[in-house]
Amino acid sequence: MRNVILIGFMGSGKTTVGFRLSYRLRRTVIDTDKEIEREEQRSISDIFATDGEAYFRDRETMCLRKLLGSTGSQIISVGGGLPLRQENRKLLRELGQVFYLCADAETIYERVKYDTTRPLLQGDNPQEKIRTLLAQRDGCYKEAADVIIDVNGKNFEQIMCEIEEAIV
Ligand code: S3P
Repeated sequence: MRNVILIGFMGSGKTTVGFRLSYRLRRTVIDTDKEIEREEQRSISDIFATDGEAYFRDRETMCLRKLLGSTGSQIISVGGGLPLRQENRKLLRELGQVFYLCADAETIYERVKYDTTRPLLQGDNPQEKIRTLLAQRDGCYKEAADVIIDVNGKNFEQIMCEIEEAIV
């Protein structure tokens, strides 16, 4: 069995879908953000504030390399910026079947508007930031993906069914 990998923008539902899929498919779930926080013993916000985004991006690549060495039947959800590095996109595809949870800017804003844990969205105009980042990133997500799941207007049950049907 191959790993099932969930990618997509912040707030697209990767973590929740990952946990639910894990329960349903009886597979363990790994979240790269949580792995990094556990290894570093501090939050993503602390890592960004103290060591900067570039340091965090290196940690993401390290995390993927480490996962390549483990068994291949897990659910893996990854941070929203992880697929931006070309090297990471290659690693993701080696690691398993990649699902892009594709959400539009409005859907994302509704889900993250009260969130304080995502350093990239803490500025004055998060809506504009989401639109800009999404426009920059969408191509990377699509390039990394084996399957694109449109999550707009769908509940988790519908999203999970679509993923399950597409798993090979
Ligand atoms: C980021 C997304 C976050 C986390 C960090 C940076 C990004 O993960 O890795 O705050 O660049 O999109 P989620 O997508 O799980 O929120």
